[in-house]
Amino acid sequence: MESLIRPSLPGDAGAMCMLDAASSAWPWRESQFVHCCAGGDDQRERALLLELDGHLQGFVVFAREFDDGSIYNIVVGVEGRRQGFGLRLLTAAVEALVDTGARRCVLEVRKSNKPARNLYEQLGFHVDGMRRNYYPTPEGREDAILMSLDL
Ligand SMILES: CC(C)(COP(=O)(O)OP(=O)(O)OC[C@H]1O[C@@H](n2cnc3c(N)ncnc32)[C@H](O)[C@@H]1OP(=O)(O)O)[C@@H](O)C(=O)NCCC(=O)NCCS
Repeated sequence: MESLIRPSLPGDAGAMCMLDAASSAWPWRESQFVHCCAGGDDQRERALLLELDGHLQGFVVFAREFDDGSIYNIVVGVEGRRQGFGLRLLTAAVEALVDTGARRCVLEVRKSNKPARNLYEQLGFHVDGMRRNYYPTPEGREDAILMSLDL
């Protein structure tokens, strides 16, 4: 089976939205995918897609913010998990940010999201701090963990 990581195209927004809705406990709105896939010279947000034999397995959305880069979202479909796809997507996004001259990569993650926190730690991200009661949950609110990686 052949796997490939490629930049998003405008026509990818629908498939990304469907994968996210089926895979994430906190899915994005379709308009957010349309935005990050729009392309164009003034495009700040970018997305990379991982495909296996042409089928979407996961994606990462990231952006340059002043001197830093930021990971906005990373999702791998349920059936594709624990095969290293998340790590490959995150590595590709970090490399793309290095190419833009970013000095640091930052992100926020739900405190309860152990799979994602482990993934980030595996690539060398460390915890910088916490935003208390930042994310909504069905039961109330939960903390955001702030992480970063020097590039
Ligand atoms: C987080 C996510 C992207 C990981 O994708 P993945 O392709 O399964 O990750 P990988 O196979 O590359 O795993 C890399 C490392 O992440 C960690 N990890 C991944 N899934 C894990 C799990 N279920 N439990 C604990 N650690 C996990 C491990 O350290 C793993 O390394 P290992 O397999 O050598 O132990 C995936 O679980 C996902 O899409 N979750 C839902 C969306 C989400 O929460 N995104 C993060 C938003 S901040």
